Amino acid sequence: MKLKRIVGWSAGAILFALFVAALVAYWTSTNACDRIAATGGDVMKAVVYCEYGGPEVLRLETVAKPACADDQVLIKVRAASVNPFDWHFMEGTPYVGRAMGMGLRKPKDVRLGVDVAGRVEAVGRNVTQLKPGDEVFGAAHGAFAEYACASEKRVVIKPGNLTFVQAASVPIAGVTALQGLRDQGKVQAGQRVLINGASGGVGTFAVQIAKSFGAHVTGVCSTKNLGLVRSLGADRVIDYTKEDFTSAPERYDLIVDNVGNHSLSACRRVLTPRGRYVMIGGPKGRWIAPLDRVLAAKVYSWFVSQDIGMFMARMDKDDLGTLGDLIQSGKVTPVIDRTYTLSQVPEALRYLEAGHARGKVVIAVGEGTARAEQRHPAPRSLPARGRGCSRRPPPGNALATAGSGRGCTAPSRPRAARSPRRDRAARRPRRLRARGAWRG
Ligand SMILES: NC(=O)c1ccc[n+]([C@@H]2O[C@H](COP(=O)([O-])OP(=O)(O)OC[C@H]3O[C@@H](n4cnc5c(N)ncnc54)[C@H](OP(=O)(O)O)[C@@H]3O)[C@@H](O)[C@H]2O)c1
Repeated sequence: MKLKRIVGWSAGAILFALFVAALVAYWTSTNACDRIAATGGDVMKAVVYCEYGGPEVLRLETVAKPACADDQVLIKVRAASVNPFDWHFMEGTPYVGRAMGMGLRKPKDVRLGVDVAGRVEAVGRNVTQLKPGDEVFGAAHGAFAEYACASEKRVVIKPGNLTFVQAASVPIAGVTALQGLRDQGKVQAGQRVLINGASGGVGTFAVQIAKSFGAHVTGVCSTKNLGLVRSLGADRVIDYTKEDFTSAPERYDLIVDNVGNHSLSACRRVLTPRGRYVMIGGPKGRWIAPLDRVLAAKVYSWFVSQDIGMFMARMDKDDLGTLGDLIQSGKVTPVIDRTYTLSQVPEALRYLEAGHARGKVVIAVGEGTARAEQRHPAPRSLPARGRGCSRRPPPGNALATAGSGRGCTAPSRPRAARSPRRDRAARRPRRLRARGAWRG
């Protein structure tokens, strides 16, 4: 009896202590917001946020230029792209993520943005493979800024046939699509692959990469994006507003799911007996979603013959290089939905969060990038939104890239076939570099 009481009191005391500790941790959780304003020296513009919330919490501030570590490079950012990852951090959702390192009450890290493309301005003393002047793309810390630091292991040289805006669209979405298909999905030539959410950032890469593996690709998207997904090379497109792929008789060797809007059992029904379901995205929620679906998939996979699981991409230099090669060879071309400026990052995130981006949403940083994008506009033969694109690209040809958010992707001439005047701007950095203008 006495022992029972001691155990009861001890358990109560432990729970109370944990509760108090959680409260204290919550109220003392803070960030470096009071120290971010630049006090002189080298300064730059950067997007910062001090509190969790909607896009209205983002501010464009003048802050100190970042001091990079010895194994990092300082990049003069020319473009950065937005990802659902960024709004998860901005909102601090799912809340469980706050306890896992985001910061309990306030964001621990006040800077936002990962995907980056730009020019190396300076290199740390342990950097061996990059030098000032190199044009790179990859993952950086706080890419929504004029300058950002990136580990040498997370950036690679930008393919010459890509603009900075196109290159910035590649890292998270491209690497996720590549690793999801190849590593988790084990895609093989001739397999039937279904991409749910084929018209978004990850989906537009996934369709093209699956085709480059020789798969038979079915893309699921809404009516307005059927033409876009077909133009990326999909063999078949399904309009989710008219047809539910989980109720059709077709079976797939691999489903890459960027949306997570069907139950796991419904998805399993349309898999072949040894098929694979790769969960990339799931329904958004405030508390734990999509982690509940991740756990459900783990448990579910113990009881079925198919491989069903969540997949988390990791930024990898070799895979950035692989994507660079696919792009260089014309097998993959980034699809750009809209470009915004640094001061419009809140609008860009608001647009992305609505969940209907067509390809990638990119931030053009600095006058130069915005002007270059105007000089290299998306082909004007774009069909109006809602009608979709109807033609497929010629084999091996680069796809055009929509830039206004109003059109969709349509075939274009490869870069090499464009007029010399249009390519002059693309060549300019090399000439300047030759004159030593880009020393760190
Ligand atoms: N696991 C990882 O490592 C990882 C990495 C990156 C991203 N993600 C996750 O992957 C998901 C997709 O990311 P993203 O960058 O591609 O997002 P995104 O660019 O916002 O794409 C959203 C796309 O989803 C489509 N969509 C919306 N409702 C749909 C439905 N019912 N059926 C089919 N398609 C639908 C939209 O097409 P319509 O306009 O035609 O509706 C839109 O093109 C997100 O949840 C993100 O968090 C995970």
